This record gives sequence, C-alpha cells and structure tokens, in this order.
Amino acid sequence: MLSYIALSVLVPLLLSSCLASPLQTPRETTLEKRQSSSMITFVDLATNTGNSVHRASGLLYGVPDPGSQIPSSFYTGMGFNHLSAGGAQFPDASGWIGGGYTGRFQDVLANYKTAKSFGAQFMLKTSDLWGADATQPSNAIWPGDGGSYAEYDRFLTQLVSDLKANGMTDIMFLIWNEPDLSIFWAVGIDRYLQTWTHTANFLKSNLPGVRIAGPSFSSPPNSGNTWWQRWLTECKNSGTAPNVYTWHHEFSTNDNLNDLSVAQPNMVNLINSFGLPMGEFIIDEYGILAEQVPGGAAWWIGSFERWNMYGLRGNWVSTWKLQDFFAGLLGKTNNNDRFGTGYYSNGEYQVYKYYVNTMIGHRVKTTRSTDKKMDSYAVVDTHRVRILVGGRQVTGTYQLTIQNLSVLGLPTSGTITVHTFEFPYTGVTGRVDAPTDLGTVAHTYSGNTLSFPIFQTSTTTTWAFEFDY
Ligand SMILES: *[C@@H]1O[C@H](CO)[C@@H](O)[C@H](O)[C@H]1NC(C)=O
Repeated sequence: MLSYIALSVLVPLLLSSCLASPLQTPRETTLEKRQSSSMITFVDLATNTGNSVHRASGLLYGVPDPGSQIPSSFYTGMGFNHLSAGGAQFPDASGWIGGGYTGRFQDVLANYKTAKSFGAQFMLKTSDLWGADATQPSNAIWPGDGGSYAEYDRFLTQLVSDLKANGMTDIMFLIWNEPDLSIFWAVGIDRYLQTWTHTANFLKSNLPGVRIAGPSFSSPPNSGNTWWQRWLTECKNSGTAPNVYTWHHEFSTNDNLNDLSVAQPNMVNLINSFGLPMGEFIIDEYGILAEQVPGGAAWWIGSFERWNMYGLRGNWVSTWKLQDFFAGLLGKTNNNDRFGTGYYSNGEYQVYKYYVNTMIGHRVKTTRSTDKKMDSYAVVDTHRVRILVGGRQVTGTYQLTIQNLSVLGLPTSGTITVHTFEFPYTGVTGRVDAPTDLGTVAHTYSGNTLSFPIFQTSTTTTWAFEFDY
C-alpha cells in the first residue's frame, strides 16, 4: 500500500525510547526459570540453514529518477536486491488513462536501470502505468469497460513494445496491484478475474517467457478469502497460474494471518489443493508504518530468512516521496526538496546494514517466542556468532536462549562474554550513523545452553549480540 493521505497524518507519535540496557543484572540469574517459553526466542547452533541472500532487502519504490541521486553506498549498504515500481503518483506524468504514459514509462525505465546496475530484480507494477495509483479520478476507465478490452490492449501493445525495445524482458510483470482494494481496482472481482486471464494470455502470445507475477492482494492467502478462492479457481480454469505468487503483509501486527508462519503454509496448501504449479513466493510489500523501526525490521528479517522468501519493504508516503528515501530508511538535508541530496541513514537502515554487511557466515535455525512477538536471526562466522533480535511492536522482558554451544567446540558449561549493540531509532528522518556499542558482559552457562534476558522497554529499539568461539 502507499499513502494517498498527507504524510503528516500517517506519522505516528514516536515512542520515547527509554535507555534500557539489555545488560546483565543480578535478577537475571533466576530469569530462565521464571521466563515462560511464550517470551523466549531460541537459536540452535547445531542446525545450519545455509547462507543468506538477504531476503528482506527489497524495496517498493523508494528509488529516485535518476537513481544516482542517492549515493551507491546506500544501495549496497542495505543489500538492495529487489525493486517493485511502476511510477505510482509520479508527479510529472500520470499514466495511460491520464495521457501521461510516455513520461511514466521513462520513469519506470530509469528505475529499472538503477535496479539492474545493482543486480536487483525488477517487478513492474503495471497498474501504475495504466494510472490506477489511488489518485485516479472517480470516472477513470478500467480494463474491459463497456465490454471491450480494445483500449487496454492498445496499452498492453505499447507497453510490450517498449519493454522489448529497452531490453526489459527479464522483469517480473505484475498484472495488477491490490485489486482487492477499491482504491486500486474499482470494478469488482468478476472483471478482475477476466482481466487477469486476458492479460496473462496477452503476455503468453506477445511477450512469451516473461515472468508473470500476482495477485498482490492486500490480504494474505487463506482458504476463507473469496478473492483468493476465486482467483485460484480462475488460474486453474484458464491455465494462467503466475510464475511468482505475490501478496502483501500490511495488516495489523495482531492479525494472525499477517505472518509468514501462517501465510506460507496456507499458500502451499492452496496451490496444492487447486493442483496449480508451485511458483516462487515474493512478498512485494511488507510491514506497516509502525513496524518500520529497528525492532520491526529485525523481526521481518527473521521471518524472510526462515521461510527463504524475498520481501520488499512497504512504502507509506505519497507523491514524489514514494520515489525517494528507500521506503523509509533515509533522510536528506531538506526532506521536502524532491531533487535535494545530502542523504543520511536512519536507525532502521542500520539494521539492514548490519544484517547484510556484518552478519556473515552460515545461518542457523532460530525459533520465535510462542507469543510470536520476539524473533531472532543468527549467523555463525569463522570465529564469531552474531544474533540479531527483533520485537514486533512489543515491550517486556523477553529472553534469548542459545542452544548446542558444543558444536562450536565450546564446553557445555562455563562463561561466555557477550558483546551487545543497540539499534536506536530517532524517527524516520532521524539520523543514526551506526549502532551503539554497549560493551561486553560475561555470562555463565550450563547444560550446553546460554540464556540471557532482552529488556524490551521500547517498541522501536532493537539489539544484536555477538560472541567469539
Ligand atoms: C540442540 O539442542 C536441542 C535443545 O537442547 C536438542 O534438543 C538437540 O538435540 C540439539 N541438537 C544437537 C545436534 O545436538
């Protein structure tokens, strides 16, 4: 989702982040006994889950035209590897139905070139190029209006021609964005299904081999959802299953379905029950605005790495700001100057930077707290273990429990010196250049397991823990 409301309305009150150190205190010694598993996140050092390709480092929009307006070190710093764009709310050109297709395509082309220059995959939000970007007039035309696809076919013909002419056939062609929301699709489910099949067949004839992506519903998959049921039925009946199954995770953090641990198996079960081909799964928009803080970023990193699915950060601003700031990770000297520079990173950016550049080595299995609110992501480097923890909009005393220390050659009991880093947050445009080094604490352990508390006093701040072996 993107915003079509003024940005100022959407920025929540920033919770003051009390300076709570997660360092050891005397009461910690009995904490393991008191802490219930509902508030423990586990790291199993004995289970190697392979190397990371930084699944969470994708962006919805967030990249200006030209992309070089933002220094390249910021792209590589956050591991930029997926970009979804189509020119939504681009102020200089409105899209096909507003007579501004040519300018909007040039904007898309600039974004595509930026993605390619960093080796990132590009997903085209085709409905943005049509002009269905939540700013379309109430009398906007839609594919299939009046029982005719002639106008839509003229659009698709031009688009396919332009994609070929610019060597853009390696994109993922997203057929329509969030058709289950009337601000993006105003003519109902039957027309959507007809348009899905019409577009998929058009592409098979005119751009064979292009990867088709969809449905990018705002609702995560579940068997009780009419849009998913009817879309899967349509894919089955017309033989138009996509190569890439996409959907969004931008509902309440308390919504049970808004979670890969529920949605991923739901999607697998639905595809199998309909007898459809199993494609790749990509979350092309993740995280509500309140989750776009260090804790939320780390929580989502844990999920995407566990499920081996790519995720693209949701984008919660509007107009030209959609194509700037890396979907809420950067600020600049004048945040209201479209062409301004002087970029700097915020506190959430530092989490991605640590995840991509510092957390090297193989991944090991982690398990969320059973209240689903505290997660971890862990890697084992040659002589160092690094663990990033992340809370999903929670406070409270959680616990990190690290199992099977002996696989590293450590004794099953003894003392381990843990180095802690804090990732603070000072607002979406609050500059943070590095995590805060909180120093080391020696923890005693036994039973091949090290446990210590995570004092989560703010819903934004998060932590990384490191130790050598
Ligand atoms: C790792 O630790 C868990 C919990 O103590 C244990 O159940 C499991 O068997 C261990 N795995 C290995 C390979 O030792």
